[in-house]
Amino acid sequence: MLHKEIILIIDFGSQFTQLITRRVRESKVYSEIYPHTISIDFIKKVHPKGIILSGGPMSVYDDEAPSISVEIFNLNIPVLGICYGLQFIAKSLGGIVEKSFEREYGRSIFRIEKDSTLTKDLQTESIVWMSHGDIVKSPPENFDIIGTSDHSPVCAIENKEKNIYGLQFHPEVYHTEQGDKIIQNFLYDICGCEGDWTSENFINNSIEDIKKKVGDSKVICALSGGVDSTVAAVLVKKAVGDNLQCIHIDTGLMRKNESEQIEILFNSKLDLNVKYVNAASVFLERLKNVSDPEQKRKIIGNTFIEVFESEAKKIEGVEYLVQGTLYPDVIESVSVKGKSATIKTHHNVGGLPEKMNLKLIEPFRELFKDEVRKVGYELGIPEDFIMRHPFPGPGLAVRILGPVTEERIKILQEADDIFISELKKAELYNKIWQAFAVLLPVQSVGVMGDARTYENVLALRAVNSVDGMTADWYKFDAEFLAKVSNLIINKVAGVNRVVYDISSKPPSTIEWE
Ligand code: XMP
Repeated sequence: MLHKEIILIIDFGSQFTQLITRRVRESKVYSEIYPHTISIDFIKKVHPKGIILSGGPMSVYDDEAPSISVEIFNLNIPVLGICYGLQFIAKSLGGIVEKSFEREYGRSIFRIEKDSTLTKDLQTESIVWMSHGDIVKSPPENFDIIGTSDHSPVCAIENKEKNIYGLQFHPEVYHTEQGDKIIQNFLYDICGCEGDWTSENFINNSIEDIKKKVGDSKVICALSGGVDSTVAAVLVKKAVGDNLQCIHIDTGLMRKNESEQIEILFNSKLDLNVKYVNAASVFLERLKNVSDPEQKRKIIGNTFIEVFESEAKKIEGVEYLVQGTLYPDVIESVSVKGKSATIKTHHNVGGLPEKMNLKLIEPFRELFKDEVRKVGYELGIPEDFIMRHPFPGPGLAVRILGPVTEERIKILQEADDIFISELKKAELYNKIWQAFAVLLPVQSVGVMGDARTYENVLALRAVNSVDGMTADWYKFDAEFLAKVSNLIINKVAGVNRVVYDISSKPPSTIEWE
């Protein structure tokens, strides 16, 4: 998609780089991340309204410290450096950067020392979030100090004439009280952005783009029932109408009643043209006696492709395939230790495009998950659907440790349904990024009435996360957990013990397999 205004984020390897991009977009300005290895010619071609230099874990004096040509400061494009970005500006333009005796990490107080457009309308003192070893001892020539903190006498600088700014703290982090305001000052008052990044504009532009690309050709979409593929299908439908044919394959590995609910939603609310294929028995047969998680994934992925291909062949003249690929899957993440830029791999049920010789439509290649949700709202998709937790392609097969059988699917579906229903009743569902139950290949002893039982152990998992790359386990009240545990043990035959997973990612993963 062509963007009228764009902010370039240059990645020096900070864990917050994606967060900067999101904050800029939340302020209604489109932004993209690029590794620091991009050329100045590329930047000129993109012609951004502004450039943000990210933080990074290294010192500007390290041998392999990431850098970019100083030409970047002569393009007549406003620049904002954050943390390492500030230090990079200082060192590149003749200032002095030093190791700080006191590593400043976490909360700090920022004080405005001089009026600046960057800190316009901010309180004189505010809480900011720091994470650095080096500090700027003295700014380069023609730069003014506009703010300080206890351990950073040069905490914020500006060169008003050249529109270059630097901050020692992280305005993109939610703990920085007035971070939003600073970012908006940069975007609107320094870069002169107008703020055209809205769901409505995105939808209108996407529809135009897809229409132009596809013309009268036929398009197919594998509709999994997940948020991304559903919102993508609804959007593409607006562009190509009846030329879109969706296919929903029921793998038999969905949550309780999920396939039925999905069918109701697709048919009655979304007006999508969907063909339903019940392939549960094929999947189950092929998973018989398989315990190895990767093997399960392979079998499910291959079977999915096979079933989908055979259905797609029945539709004449198909040229395009819709995929719900998201921006985090396509960003080149900078590896600062090794010099190369590596592209993240993603473990989706897929491989469809390479095998099928179809051209791709990926309307969300530029979007984060929360932006897809906003587009979904704007397109009138019901909220309870949009807010559904992510669900892995291989479904319950990777939540049943050990072999997958019909009986074990049923046990897990029942237990999982109780957990999720209780989360909704307690109004916790939307506060959690992902929650589910896992059936363990472990039997434990219990007593029920006077009898001794020897039954399955079930684990509950609930995490909060921004993008699934890292995650914290959710801190429930003990009473809530006790209630869910009681309900499951009393209602689900085959489970006599419930445990709660208190591991975060890393080092654990979100799924157990
Ligand atoms: P992990 O378990 O790697 O999961 O911490 C991160 C996120 O990815 C989802 N996940 C998958 N999604 N196919 C998918 O489409 C998979 O094979 C798969 N494995 C994990 C997981 O649910 C979480 O949201």
